[in-house]
Amino acid sequence: MDFVIQSGRLEKYHGDCIVAGVFETRKLTGAAKTLDEVCKGYLAGVVDQGDMDGRANTTLLLHNVPGIGSKRVLLVGLGKEEEYAEKEFLGAIRAVFKALQQTGVKNAGLCVADLIVEGRGIAWALLQSILLAEESVYRFDRLKSKREERQLSLQKITFLIGDESATADAKKALQQGVAIARGINVTKDLGNLAPNICTPTYLAEQAGEMARTYSLKLSVLEEKDMEKLGMGALLAVARGSHQPAKLIVMEYRGRKSTKKPVVLVGKGVTFDTGGISLKPAAEMDEMKYDMGGAASVFGTLTAVAEMKLPVNVTGIIPATENMPGGNATKPGDVVTSLSGQTIEILNTDAEGRLILCDALAYAERYKPEVVIDIATLTGACVVALGHVVSGLMGTDEQLVQELRQAGEKASDRAWQLPLGKEYQELLKSNFADMANIGGRWGGAITAACFLSRFTGKYRWAHLDIAGTAWKSGKEKEATGRPVPLLTQFLIDRADPH
Ligand code: BES
Ligand code: MN
Ligand code: ZN
Repeated sequence: MDFVIQSGRLEKYHGDCIVAGVFETRKLTGAAKTLDEVCKGYLAGVVDQGDMDGRANTTLLLHNVPGIGSKRVLLVGLGKEEEYAEKEFLGAIRAVFKALQQTGVKNAGLCVADLIVEGRGIAWALLQSILLAEESVYRFDRLKSKREERQLSLQKITFLIGDESATADAKKALQQGVAIARGINVTKDLGNLAPNICTPTYLAEQAGEMARTYSLKLSVLEEKDMEKLGMGALLAVARGSHQPAKLIVMEYRGRKSTKKPVVLVGKGVTFDTGGISLKPAAEMDEMKYDMGGAASVFGTLTAVAEMKLPVNVTGIIPATENMPGGNATKPGDVVTSLSGQTIEILNTDAEGRLILCDALAYAERYKPEVVIDIATLTGACVVALGHVVSGLMGTDEQLVQELRQAGEKASDRAWQLPLGKEYQELLKSNFADMANIGGRWGGAITAACFLSRFTGKYRWAHLDIAGTAWKSGKEKEATGRPVPLLTQFLIDRADPH
């Protein structure tokens, strides 16, 4: 889809459709009033007749409104004016794109300046609108033999921003929004792909494609390389699978190569059966999304490279399947990780931390400024926070706060859970330096505590995206999170003002 910005008087927009808001009950917004003057009270009349009362997320499409330069006017309900906030804005824009897709319009003008939410500027409104527009046209149908017939006529959105002084901010937001949307789609595609296709080898191939497209430096470690290095924890997870594990490293350099990189480490379990500690059958298919952390690293690198952001980012992706098999790791096995620390594997289903701990130790070689790992790590995190916010933990409070704020800014929220010695004690093993599980309670925290033992050499934070990387049920689909959060974090680092 194409996006353009137009400043000045909104009635000058002449397209297939112009969108304006109505508050509950029957109160026109500023833009709607302006249009109403042009059509001499026609809109107010329609609203007063009761055809549109402004309830949240409702829409009304009007044709050939007298005097209006656009062929149609789409009124969107915004709910009660005093309750109008972020969630209402997002709901209204979603409803707008749904309605526009159902008509034959090729282009539409959106009065974003008129829909501004308190505490959020035009840049936020514009960027979110781009993400929602792209979300409204996203379909993952490449594995269907007959693709659903659909006419996607909508091709161009014009953001009507009013005052010209907002143009620079709007342009920047537009460029960012387009890049982030592209990154989100990359993340969604990798997640939605079937696990017999999206294997560790496939991820390594995709990394090759990306490296070519964006001139990234790429290295892929094979299992024999991992053996030489001593990555006993990662290899312990890979043992049960016939698919070879890969450790993928992609380097984006937007600044001088001497500048220390932000390192993103993404969990890339392309299918998690649980291994010998086998998972129950119900919804096990969803464990194809257990590479969501890895997918978000691909997506974030895409967004950053599209923006040509002046930052250095290194993505590290440990990729493997977690399968049962004659050669698979057994509960009670003790392995030596790359860091030299030994681990008693009491539950083979706690595999994410095993592959991450070797990747985190390996990250030291890239002399990181900070390291952030992203992982669909624990069901316990979903119990704690549901599907709304991602879990956030770390040993560097400043980094944690930076990430939290980036999440707020990008409307891709994360919430901090504590770490601490009391939780660390739960990882005690009778036979090795530590166990890979910490018992029933506080599972998201003990998992992060386990990871923290491999991050002593740098500033570190961890995002548990088990509840936010995909949606279950009828609308089962990857969400593309936390690409908006990570990209915002990097945008803020590139330009700290
Ligand atoms: N990939 C899962 C975590 C998960 C479960 C994410 C459900 C989303 C939905 C992870 O590898 C796992 O199995 N974790 C175990 C850890 C436990 C054995 C300590 C869990 O959460 O049950
Ligand atoms: Mn598991
Ligand atoms: Zn897992």
